[in-house]
Amino acid sequence: MGFLPKEKKDKIKRFIKYEDALMSLTAEILIRAVVCSKLGIKNESVKFNRTTYGKPYLEGYDDFHFNLSHSGSWVVCAVSSKPVGIDIEKIREVDLDIAKRFFSKEEASDLFAKEDNEKTEYFFELWTLKESYIKADGRGLSLPLNSFFFRIENDNVIFVSESEKKKFFFKRYDIDKGYKLAVCSMESHFPEDVEIKSFEEVCKFLCER
Ligand SMILES: CC(C)(COP(=O)(O)OP(=O)(O)OC[C@H]1O[C@@H](n2cnc3c(N)ncnc32)[C@H](O)[C@@H]1OP(=O)(O)O)[C@@H](O)C(=O)NCCC(=O)NCCS
Repeated sequence: MGFLPKEKKDKIKRFIKYEDALMSLTAEILIRAVVCSKLGIKNESVKFNRTTYGKPYLEGYDDFHFNLSHSGSWVVCAVSSKPVGIDIEKIREVDLDIAKRFFSKEEASDLFAKEDNEKTEYFFELWTLKESYIKADGRGLSLPLNSFFFRIENDNVIFVSESEKKKFFFKRYDIDKGYKLAVCSMESHFPEDVEIKSFEEVCKFLCER
């Protein structure tokens, strides 16, 4: 908690569930370590703010974009020189009827056409792709969910949006078989692999700055 400004510490203390507090703390420490390492600045000068839609950004560095996500035992972060969104989800039992509410009709029909044993995984493939796009866009759930859709064909991600003039790129990463992870960026180049650090490694890095 010593790495954080007072407002963030207060927010973390208000969480009811310990796991939620830990996730939020880990995410903040992770992005602080990444910012300090990439920009060569001190933790004390790192200041975050949020857009009116709630997307966090780094104050004073217009070319530095990042996004964070957490689920289960993972906290993930993506950074780019262009807007970026990331989503990780633990694969768990879900009521697939949620798809009728949150997915486009094309996505729902693709999902329900899958074999029963493939449905949950496909649900989370689509969910993480959709969230990564929503988060890269930054408008959150204010973005109409029926204005775009995803399809995965032969392991390729197909993204269809009538209104979207900007170019978005997607990549899925396999870091844990119990999770789905997707990244959306306006930059076409993605690293091949995710860099994985333990909580202790990230804290140690910040301590040594
Ligand atoms: C808040 C939201 C951006 C992501 O929520 P989520 O998937 O539950 O949570 P994640 O762990 O992936 O991401 C949370 C982080 O995203 C970031 N975030 C918050 N608002 C954001 C926004 N408008 N745009 C981009 N990132 C945002 C923050 O860093 C946040 O961390 P914090 O809560 O510690 O501040 C939003 O999309 C949401 O409420 N989703 C709910 C799920 C849903 O209905 N999805 C439908 C599409 S399939």
